[in-house]
Amino acid sequence: MTSFKPVLFSAIQPSGNITIGNYIGTMRHWSKMQNDYNCFYCIADLHALTTYNKHSCLKKSILDTISFYLACGVDPNKSIIFIQSHVYQHSQLNWILNCFSQFSELLRMNQFKMKRQIKNRYEKTNVGLFNYPILMASDILLYQTNFVPVGRDQKQHIELTRNIAYRFNSLYGDIFTLPEPLINECGSKIMSLLEPNKKMSKSDINKNNVIFLLDDISSVILKIKQSMTDSEQPCRIYYDIERKPGISNLLEILSAITNKNIDILLKELQGIMYREFKDIVADSLSKFLYKMQKSYINYRCDESYLKKVVYEGAIKARLKSEKTLQNVCSKLGLVSLFK
Ligand code: TYM
Repeated sequence: MTSFKPVLFSAIQPSGNITIGNYIGTMRHWSKMQNDYNCFYCIADLHALTTYNKHSCLKKSILDTISFYLACGVDPNKSIIFIQSHVYQHSQLNWILNCFSQFSELLRMNQFKMKRQIKNRYEKTNVGLFNYPILMASDILLYQTNFVPVGRDQKQHIELTRNIAYRFNSLYGDIFTLPEPLINECGSKIMSLLEPNKKMSKSDINKNNVIFLLDDISSVILKIKQSMTDSEQPCRIYYDIERKPGISNLLEILSAITNKNIDILLKELQGIMYREFKDIVADSLSKFLYKMQKSYINYRCDESYLKKVVYEGAIKARLKSEKTLQNVCSKLGLVSLFK
């Protein structure tokens, strides 16, 4: 007899190199969850089109992302790894849910407001960027997902997903499971190294703000050494996001990659100077990235294996998502081709 396992869904958009923020905010939890949940790990390539330009190395980013999923310990025999565009059900449900979402609720999405501000004008903002959270809702709802491990920046999108699902269910019965976000207290918002009041992001134009999983080790050490701290005298290491955003951010990074909680770290770090603290962070991070990159390269060299993984993943994802889509279509009165 197979026991019931809750469904877990998460994704990363291959819109650039993966950062230590992506890893700490979500990927580091994935392998641990494989035994207790039915896990779907998606490469959200359609989402990446919202920031696409002809210089985006999309194919490379997609293959890199699959390799990092594997390097983080996601096991294709336990979890389903697939590429969003291989499962057409996502786009189909996206259109249907567009018709159950309100313009005003999308206008309230913080990520859209921020990205539009960067573009500065509506005329330059593509419609995909506006629609993005509804595609995300489709990703999640197709699999009857119970839990979505994400960083804090995605919380609002999960709330929107719940609202759309609730609205649909109120009209048509229990069609969609309402998903819960899984957001860790520590590490759910890793900040920029030089500007620790803003989120570390793949798309930052200043690469010294960001640690990428593919950074070479010497540049990681340099970036940590240059990172912003504060001028408190005498310098003391403690956790206080408001007063010491730089130090607190480094503490969160160190805590995540060493698996030690911050209180334990603070005891170990008592009495040391900022310079020594940065050396410790740089050293731990370098060792961690060295191991991760070695495993990544093993997978990345074998493209035919990567393609096999996502081929098999797509077949399984299509089967599961088609059930939900058929149910939705039938409730709406769309006529099936087969029955
Ligand atoms: P993306 O690709 O921007 O980020 C992937 C994951 O990394 C988390 N994250 C962070 N966590 C901590 N600190 C940071 N500085 C940081 N930066 C990013 C994000 O919260 C996210 O969990 N829309 C999503 C991808 C997506 C998705 C989904 C996620 C598509 N469909 C369905 C969950 C469920 C995105 O762009 O994430």
